[in-house]
Amino acid sequence: MEKVRYGVIGIGNMGSQHVRQLAENMIENAELTAVCDINPKRLDWVKDNFGEDIVLFDDYKKLLTSGLIDAVIIATPHYLHPVIGIEAFEAGLHVLSEKPIGVYTNKVVEMMEVAKKSGKAFGIMYNQRTNPIFQKAREFVQGGELGTLKRCVWIITDWYRTQQYYNSGTWRATWEGEGGGVLLNQCPHNLDLWQWIFGMPKKIRAFMSFGKYHDIEVEDDVTAYAEYENGATGVFITTTGETPGTNRLEISGSRGKLICENGKLIFHRSQKDEREYCYGSKDGFAKPMTDVFEVKFEERKKQEHLLIIENFTNHIIKGTPLLAPGYEGINGLSISNAMHLSAWKNETIDMPGNGDEFYALLQERIKLSNVKKAEATGEVANLSGTYNN
Ligand SMILES: NC(=O)c1ccc[n+]([C@@H]2O[C@H](COP(=O)([O-])OP(=O)(O)OC[C@H]3O[C@@H](n4cnc5c(N)ncnc54)[C@H](O)[C@@H]3O)[C@@H](O)[C@H]2O)c1
Repeated sequence: MEKVRYGVIGIGNMGSQHVRQLAENMIENAELTAVCDINPKRLDWVKDNFGEDIVLFDDYKKLLTSGLIDAVIIATPHYLHPVIGIEAFEAGLHVLSEKPIGVYTNKVVEMMEVAKKSGKAFGIMYNQRTNPIFQKAREFVQGGELGTLKRCVWIITDWYRTQQYYNSGTWRATWEGEGGGVLLNQCPHNLDLWQWIFGMPKKIRAFMSFGKYHDIEVEDDVTAYAEYENGATGVFITTTGETPGTNRLEISGSRGKLICENGKLIFHRSQKDEREYCYGSKDGFAKPMTDVFEVKFEERKKQEHLLIIENFTNHIIKGTPLLAPGYEGINGLSISNAMHLSAWKNETIDMPGNGDEFYALLQERIKLSNVKKAEATGEVANLSGTYNN
């Protein structure tokens, strides 16, 4: 294959950017041949902006079997990601799904099985994996530069959203439409990076508030504690109701600590391993000497989402390894499902948690929901700029 023919399903905030990047030929060896949305206004937007050559569908099933595409990008609300993904693999297509990979892990496991059987490429839009800061942090942690890992704390409270944001789509911030709040919409990136850099926890305890800062039924404030196989611990704090917010990832080990904040990666490197120092020192108040330096890295030259589509295209054409394999999407989702389970049951969850139980408790919430859905404005807020969720 010389060129991958893409279809995009769901042309809202995010899908519109994918459409633009593909239609304006910003990605080598990729072209946009078809799109799908159930909202006719979004199809008109494609026709008006990118001409008549892109075939428009109002039913994703027809797009999948049209023979017009080799690969599909799914940018609909989350519940549909694995539903459409399964049908796309069955239709023999490569699949690049938006995050999160789904809402509950059982459906994602089903998608992974179908994906494997199909042998087609499976990617997820974890665009923040293209950020050199996180790539470098991962390199240090996994390369052993921090020594024995002790703690990983992420305060990610700069996902501020107004009530208008939540009112802008009827699916948003409801159990039925979205299946969660900040953990399902904004934090899939951070939960993925948390595990991509530091590994998967073995236990999760979470506390969260539902509709604390907004008129919504799902969580908009979360504090979670994690335990890892080697005894390391982690804390993850997030909200959409705090401003000015913080985005600080701090990782400590026996050889120092790494801080990712304000676009910088700072390494406090201990000259001696703290574990050995602790038992070797004759001075009760001494500490190992530390060198502090800013880690230099090459700036990212292209927009994050574009890089993921480019990598996915190269994977299909040349077998380039995927930066964000779809099969890894379940890791972050398992953590977020476990956080919900923990908060709902008020107990610690052994990872990966029980998928059937999560599903049952989610259904209870959907059934009990008496949320009055706000009128969707139907507006798409972010068509031209870059999207950094
Ligand atoms: N990677 C990122 O940085 C990023 C950023 C924003 C959103 N997202 C993800 O993208 C997805 C969409 O979010 P959004 O903010 O663009 O939402 P949105 O509501 O703006 O857009 C969703 C679009 O999907 C369409 N749609 C719904 N059901 C459909 C169906 N059955 N068939 C075809 N089209 C359908 C809607 O009409 C709408 O145009 C979410 O899963 C979200 O998490 C990812």
